Amino acid sequence: MRDARWMLYGATGYTGQLVAEQAAAHGHRPLLAGRDETKLRELGRRYGFKYAAFTLDDVTTIARHTAEVELVYHAAGPFTYTADPMIRACLATHTHYLDITGEIHVFENTFRYDEVASKTGIALIGGVGFDVIPSDCLAAYVAAQVPHARTLEIGVQALTQVSAGTARSVLEMLPQGAQVRRDGRIVSQPLGRGAKDIPYLNGAQRSIPVSWGDIATAYRTTRIPNITAYMPFSSRAIALANVGGAFTGLLRSAGLRRLIGAVLDRTITGPDADARAQGRSTLWARASDEIGGSAEAWLETAEGYEFTARAAIVVIERTLAESPTGALTPALAFGADFVLEIDGTTRYDHLPRV
Ligand SMILES: NC(=O)c1ccc[n+]([C@@H]2O[C@H](COP(=O)([O-])OP(=O)(O)OC[C@H]3O[C@@H](n4cnc5c(N)ncnc54)[C@H](OP(=O)(O)O)[C@@H]3O)[C@@H](O)[C@H]2O)c1
Repeated sequence: MRDARWMLYGATGYTGQLVAEQAAAHGHRPLLAGRDETKLRELGRRYGFKYAAFTLDDVTTIARHTAEVELVYHAAGPFTYTADPMIRACLATHTHYLDITGEIHVFENTFRYDEVASKTGIALIGGVGFDVIPSDCLAAYVAAQVPHARTLEIGVQALTQVSAGTARSVLEMLPQGAQVRRDGRIVSQPLGRGAKDIPYLNGAQRSIPVSWGDIATAYRTTRIPNITAYMPFSSRAIALANVGGAFTGLLRSAGLRRLIGAVLDRTITGPDADARAQGRSTLWARASDEIGGSAEAWLETAEGYEFTARAAIVVIERTLAESPTGALTPALAFGADFVLEIDGTTRYDHLPRV
């Protein structure tokens, strides 16, 4: 691969560094980018990659840098604050755009650029990490088996801790409670409501609706009008979520979120190499119609951050090779089986016998 065909923005974050490491291991030479020159210089020296330091405050400045590459892999979040200026720069310079957001309103905003992205001949693909490649591909897989499906349920069991950036991104979504899709519209419900037993690969677990990216992406992929995404919670955590749900409105204060975000930055380090190597994630999805028809399937994948790093190289290579166009989901861009290309992923049509 020739020098700097793509840019890794947010390269010095927890996930950005994992992607840089994968890039080096696969012989890629991305242009490292971010807003902290000192950290970039150090990372650039580690791998022998070039770097560019710039903020996301001004689209013209960003575009000067995106014009240098064919593709941007955006890893700087919360994407609420970072996705839109980078997308506009990529549209201006005809540069493919990938990000790893999981934020529902960020996906919805990206989809608004569909027509202009198609005309420009570039791809805008959000959620090319653990959130949402596996669930999006699984949703496409079960939906294809139930032509008139009205309901899609997704269960995500991600078994390790999170990075500070993920915690801050979740914090940005908490004021909305748990978002679900009903009759094609995104609606919010109090956190902790609607608990249900979800049949994960390792047994059923009580789970509650969460604002997983699929509320935006699986709808775009499958057009199924009723979508709920679940995550397992212990009964104690569900009780806490029920109480906490009443207070999530307080988090509408951006000042309070900034304060909590600063604490998260200082206290959360993300899973270490052992946790990433040993962790596994499992997912379940079921599509159902109104006359008793349904299809379900399961996935087992690498630990979430490990999956995200491995997926980065695959999705970058596919995008550069195939040049899909428009604002797409991973499954729309590359198909329901795409997830099986990510090392360590297995799909099941039935619960395996133990
Ligand atoms: N979809 C998925 O499966 C998936 C997987 C992993 C992560 N993520 C998401 O990716 C994001 C990053 O996660 P992380 O684990 O790498 O977090 P992190 O370690 O906190 O890193 C965040 C990075 O974003 C940069 N950044 C933050 N705000 C910025 C802004 N306004 N302008 C420019 N740069 C900014 C930071 O730069 P500084 O160092 O200068 O502060 C840092 O490089 C989060 O939103 C997380 O939820 C998603």
